[in-house]
Parts: sequence; C-alpha cells; structure tokens
Amino acid sequence: METLLRDAVLPLLAWFRENKRDLPWRKNVSPYTVLVSELMLQQTRVEAVKERYVAFLSRFPTAEALADASEEEVLKAWEGLGYYSRARNLHRAAKIVAREGFPTTWEGVRALPGVGDYTAGAICSIALGLAAPAVDGNVVRILTRLLADGRCADERAKREFSARLKEVYPPETGAFCEALMELGAIVCLPNGAPLCEACPWRGLCRAHAAGEETRYPVLAEKRARRIEEVTVLVLQCGERYALVRREKGELLAGMYGFPVFKETDPAAYGEILEVRKAKFLFTHVEWRMTGYFIRALRPFGEFLWATREEIGARYAIPSAFRPFRAWIL
Ligand code: ADE
Repeated sequence: METLLRDAVLPLLAWFRENKRDLPWRKNVSPYTVLVSELMLQQTRVEAVKERYVAFLSRFPTAEALADASEEEVLKAWEGLGYYSRARNLHRAAKIVAREGFPTTWEGVRALPGVGDYTAGAICSIALGLAAPAVDGNVVRILTRLLADGRCADERAKREFSARLKEVYPPETGAFCEALMELGAIVCLPNGAPLCEACPWRGLCRAHAAGEETRYPVLAEKRARRIEEVTVLVLQCGERYALVRREKGELLAGMYGFPVFKETDPAAYGEILEVRKAKFLFTHVEWRMTGYFIRALRPFGEFLWATREEIGARYAIPSAFRPFRAWIL
C-alpha cells in the first residue's frame, strides 16, 4: 500500500553508502558509544559534538568506566556541550547498563534516563538492529516533501510517520535511520534551500515534481480568531468610575473591568467626552473595541462605582482595558 515510501528505501541506502559524512560515531559502533553520541547530539550540532565525542570516549571508553567516574569528572568531560542534565542522565544510564547490561528492547532503551522516543529509535536502529524509526522535524520535512503530504510537523505527524516507516524498514536498520537524518542534514535542507539535484529521491519526490518542495512541511495553521466588535464605556460620575465584575462563561470571567456591550447607545449614558479605538487579542477572539469616555448623568445601579484610588489598589483591571485606563489614572 505504501509503495512510494517503499520505493524510496533502496535509493536512499545506496546514496547514504556513497555520500555519508565521515563522523566519529560512525566508526566502532557499540550500544554504549551510540548512547553517548545520541545524547550528545540532542540539542547540539554535529560539528560541535565531533571532537567532544572522541575526547569523551577516550576518557570513558566503556559504560563501566563511566559508571565508576564521579559526577564531577563526567561534568568536566561534558564541558562546553551545555545542557548538563544530559551528562547526568548519561552517567545514570551508564550505571544501569554497567549493572544490568544494555537493554535489548525499545521499551528497555526508552526507559533509560535522558532517552526520549527519537533517541530510543536512533539507538535501537543503529546499535540493536531493531526497526525503530527516529522521527524528528527533519525527518518529517523530507517525508512530507517526498509524499507531498500536507500535514504540519507536529507530534502527531512524528507518530504517524514513525508507524509508516516501521512498515518499510529494511534489514540495514542503522544505515536507514542515519540515512534519513543525513538526507535532511545535507540535501533536503529547510528554508527554501533544498539541493534537489543531489537528491536520491529527485525522481520520486512529489513535491519536486510539482516544483513545490519548499511548501512542505506546511506551517501549523494559525487558528483564525473570531472578531467581536464591542463598545467599552468608561463612565465617570463625580469621583467615581463604573466597573462590572465579568460573568462566568464570558471572556475574563471573574475579573473587574469597564462595562462592555455588543450593542448599546453610548449617548444614552451621558455626555461623551472622548472616543478611542483599540484592539485586544485573546487566544480565540479579537476584540475590536470602541471606547467612550462619558460623564454619566447619574450612577447607574447595575454598576459598581469605584474611586480612582480604589481601582488602583483593589481591582485588577485586565490588560484588554489598558488603552482606556489613561482616562482615569
Ligand atoms: N543527529 C542525531 N543523531 C545523529 C546521527 N547519528 N548522525 C548524525 N546526526 C544525528
């Protein structure tokens, strides 16, 4: 059923054999060395990891050596890589591995400290020969382009592509896993700069065929906000100003604010002194406000009438009303 993805596997593997970068963690691979490199490569660029990886492994060549080190020594060897919780996690993982042996299942690897879904996939594919995809934003990008797939690069897309890749995983699990990463790193580049002429998928890629490789992955749709035109009244009566406590189920429920109406006749409340327009963006609603500063004829009963001092000290007025606060403060 998944023929395009299936057809893409062998060309990718052939390309990887010829074109892969010469990276230190691609030599003398063992479960322990892959654990080290994959934790280092979390949040850190390949170029920055290269030297540190070699130095770290010469200092701690085995899980036992790392397990026996003090935390200070481990942190020292990690120096410059940043995100030191990774070093502490690696140290804890090494103690587990030294005690119990390296896990042999995805679940076992995933349970090691510092190992998430992506890292577990990489370790299992590269070190254990398991069909365990490692899908990050880069892999989503190359697959959405190959398939001209309109989804955005969210967690759900990662899970779904992971399931689809699992169906077509070849016996060379490590090479396949790293080939997907490699294509995203050196050919199928983001931000409108893919090097399609050098791509092993150029004859297969649906986005390329349509001349639309940079459309993918589609950006997460910004949910449109509902626009509400509202009238905000800043009513002054002597020393006091009208507030309302906003009702349950309304925006800003429970907060005090100026009276807000979908429809009202401001002139009915008194003399209009000033008018000002302002906008406020809530998560799902945009208020297009027209504020009226009004000298009220009488203190309308439905409002709470507070002095300027009381408002400053006692009532937290939400930011949505800030454009109109200048009228009273
Ligand atoms: N990023 C994460 N893991 C990697 C690997 N094994 N090779 C290159 N880049 C990576």
